[in-house]
Amino acid sequence: MKSVRDLHLQGKRVLLRADFNVPMDEHRQITDDIRIRMVLPTIRHILQAKGRLVICSHMGRPKGKRVEDFSLAPVALHLESLLGVKVTLAPDCIGEEVEKMVQKMADGEIVLLENLRFYAGETENDPTFSGQLARLADVYVNDAFAVSHRAHASVVGVVERVAEKAAGFLLQTELDYFHKSMDEPTRPLVAVIGGAKVSSKLGALQNMLGKVDRMIIGGAMANTFLKGMGFDVGASKVEDDLLDNARQFVKAAEAKGLKLYFPVDFVVADRFAADAVTKNVTFRDIPSGWMALDIGPASVILFQEALLDAKTIIWNGPMGAFEIDAFARGTMAMCQCVASAHALSIVGGGDSNAAVKKSGEEKNISYMSTGGGAFLELMEGKILPGVAALG
Ligand code: 3PG
Repeated sequence: MKSVRDLHLQGKRVLLRADFNVPMDEHRQITDDIRIRMVLPTIRHILQAKGRLVICSHMGRPKGKRVEDFSLAPVALHLESLLGVKVTLAPDCIGEEVEKMVQKMADGEIVLLENLRFYAGETENDPTFSGQLARLADVYVNDAFAVSHRAHASVVGVVERVAEKAAGFLLQTELDYFHKSMDEPTRPLVAVIGGAKVSSKLGALQNMLGKVDRMIIGGAMANTFLKGMGFDVGASKVEDDLLDNARQFVKAAEAKGLKLYFPVDFVVADRFAADAVTKNVTFRDIPSGWMALDIGPASVILFQEALLDAKTIIWNGPMGAFEIDAFARGTMAMCQCVASAHALSIVGGGDSNAAVKKSGEEKNISYMSTGGGAFLELMEGKILPGVAALG
C-alpha cells in the first residue's frame, strides 16, 4: 500500500476521502472535531506538495436524498478556521458544475464536495457514481479509516478508476497502531470489552480468543454471559438468544487457557434513570426486578489487577451506562486504570472514546481510534474493503 508521501502531487487533482461524519448539536455546531483534526496532516501535506485538493466525505445517513441538515457546510467553515486557508464548499459532489469548478482550481486550493450520501450510488457502490467521482481526480487518497469498512463508491468503487492511489497519514496510523497491538503485541496483551450487546461483539470476541492473554468482559454484555453460566441477573439487559453462544465462548476460552474476567459485583438500580434507587451488590445478589447498570468497586479492583502488568491493552466498549453519572464510576475507574498502565493502550469505538473524554484521561491513552464500526471489524480479523482497494 502506497503512502500519500510516495506520490507526486504538484498540479494534480487529489481526491481525498475523509470521514467528516462528526457529531453536531441542534444548532448544527460541531461538538467533537477530532475526525477533522486527525486528517489535517494529510491535508497540509497535499497543500504543501501543491496538489489541487478535492475532499469528499459523507455525513449521517440521508439515504440518497439531499437533506440540508446533513450538509457539510459546517465542516467547510470549521476546516477553514483550522487551516487558515479558504475551503470552498461545492454545491454537489458530482456533476458538470462541480467538474467545472474543479477544472478551474489552482495548485494548493481546496474544494470540499457536498455530502456523498445525498446519492444512493454512494452506499450502493454504483459504478456510474464511482465513475462520476473519478472524473474529479488524477490521484486518490483514502484517509477515512472510520468508513473504510464500508464497500461504498468513494471508498472502493472509485479507487480502480483513478490512476494513482495511496493511504493518508491517519489511515496508516490507525492500521499501524492496530497491528502493533493485535498482531505484534508486547505481552501480556489484555482486551477490555464492554458495551451493550454480545451480538455486535461476538465476531471480535471469537477472533481475539487466540490472540489475547487475558480478556475483561464488562458492560451490559456481561449479563448475558452471567445468565448463560446460570446466574440470576434480575431485570438486567440480556440477549436470551445468545446464551448458548456465551456458554460456548466461555468453554472455548477455557480450552485455550485464556483467562476471562467478569464483574463480581454491580451497581444495580430499580429502573434505568438518573434518579433511580441504586445499591451495590455481588453478582449473586442481584434482586429480582433490579438491573445491573455499572460494575461495582470489587470488579474495579479485580480488573485493575488483570491490567497491572499488561504491556498492551485494547479497549472497546464501556463498563456500564456511563452517560448517567450514577452509573459512570466503574467506566471512569477503568479509564484511569488503562491510562495509568505502563502499556501501549488503544481505545476504539464511539462510546469508549466518549467515556475516556469524560474521564479527562485522553492524553494518557496511547491511541484513541477515530473508528467505530471500522475498529470493530479489525477486531473481528477482517480486512477492510477500503484498505484492500488500495492494494
Ligand atoms: C462512523 O461514524 O462509524 C462512520 O462515519 C461510518 O458511518 P456509517 O455507520 O453511517 O456507515
